[in-house]
Amino acid sequence: MKETPINHEVVTRKIKESKLESVGKASIREIKKLVDTIEEETGEAFIRMEMGIPGLPPTKIGVEAEIEALKKGIAALYPDIYGIPPLKKEISRFVKLFLDIDVDREGCIPTVGSMQGGFAAFMTVNRMNRKKDTTLFIDPGFPVHKQQHRVLGIKYETFDVYNYRGDKLKHKLESYLKKGNISSILYSNPNNPSWICFTHNELRIIGELAEKYDVIIMEDLAYFAMDFRKDYSKPGEPPYQPSVTRYTDNYILFISSSKVFSYAGQRIGMMVISDKLYNTTAPDLLRYYTTDVFGKAIIFGSLYALSSGTAHSPQYGLAAILKAVNDGEYDFIKVVKDYGEKARIMKKMFLDNGFDIVYDKDEDNPIADGFYFTFSYPGFTGEELLNELVYYGISAISLAITGSERLEGIRACVSLVNRKQFPDLEKRLQQFHRDHPVKK
Ligand SMILES: Cc1ncc(COP(=O)(O)O)c(C=O)c1O
Repeated sequence: MKETPINHEVVTRKIKESKLESVGKASIREIKKLVDTIEEETGEAFIRMEMGIPGLPPTKIGVEAEIEALKKGIAALYPDIYGIPPLKKEISRFVKLFLDIDVDREGCIPTVGSMQGGFAAFMTVNRMNRKKDTTLFIDPGFPVHKQQHRVLGIKYETFDVYNYRGDKLKHKLESYLKKGNISSILYSNPNNPSWICFTHNELRIIGELAEKYDVIIMEDLAYFAMDFRKDYSKPGEPPYQPSVTRYTDNYILFISSSKVFSYAGQRIGMMVISDKLYNTTAPDLLRYYTTDVFGKAIIFGSLYALSSGTAHSPQYGLAAILKAVNDGEYDFIKVVKDYGEKARIMKKMFLDNGFDIVYDKDEDNPIADGFYFTFSYPGFTGEELLNELVYYGISAISLAITGSERLEGIRACVSLVNRKQFPDLEKRLQQFHRDHPVKK
């Protein structure tokens, strides 16, 4: 029997019982369940890096504002589909102060998590023009967005940006856009899973092509301002969160409150539609909606049909958080910066023990330390590596499910790893390295 940090016999038995064909091929939730059962039987805590969930308490300002609102009786009332006025005002202020863009309050809309904003947008954008019925994903990306396309029956195309950074991005994007079927482009920035961040040069390329080919850019800012290499935390002061909005006014932004405000449980996010796109008329929309105005179709057609708006009390919670942030009274970046610190320490442990960082550069610069990082080990595919790491008490997910072509890669999320576990992580990585010598 092999000596591994987590009892070899138990791990092997639990994998067998789970009926998973391979740990490396399992979904995030399947891995979570397997690790829960191994932890239960062995009493040993894993270094859990599979789930991208906040590891911090929720922003208190929000919780208190929600309680206050509930006490006033708002639970009995339907919220307006387009959002309560104080929240719309603060979203509009937030994007002015942190992105330096002017967006009318009408286009600042709360959604049930940014997940719902995406769903409504994919549904509406791909119905504006019958010839443009396909979303282009700049991958790697968040797997649920593809699942949304599948359940909606909407087509998508995708490529891994790894080999197309910098100026190479232009030619690659044009090879898709010139076909004429692409309605919109979706990416997250900072990126889940790789934590790459597009440079101003790359965002300019994307924005200019959006203008040239009349496509909508859907920029997912789920990790808003969390590229800690620069300080984006000062309202109304540069530098601002880099964004395509500098280069095109054909955009929809999805700004999640799940990670930046540790507010995932309340399922509230922001969808921000540029004034130009909001007021765009597209006659093909009339096939599905009673209006041909995009902004009205997405609110009174899609969002109405999905959930008739966003729950009332989280809207008050988010409005209060944003007001404090906008007024410079609450520094949300200071709170989440710990993720970057943890990533720096953890990445070093991996590198010291023979591992490599897969997505390691933004053009010429090393990537930032943040919520996620990607790693590999010589001689292993991502799947094989995950299968083996379970015996070392380390869990994560394979990049294969994210549209990445780097099949050797694994995504690690730092949020749930407690600093007290760092010595264990180091010991386990050292043993892994000893047990799997790298051939020079
Ligand atoms: C890139 C990306 N987009 C969207 C989401 C979902 O955000 P929300 O919780 O606001 O629905 C996540 C959450 O992990 C994410 O990583």
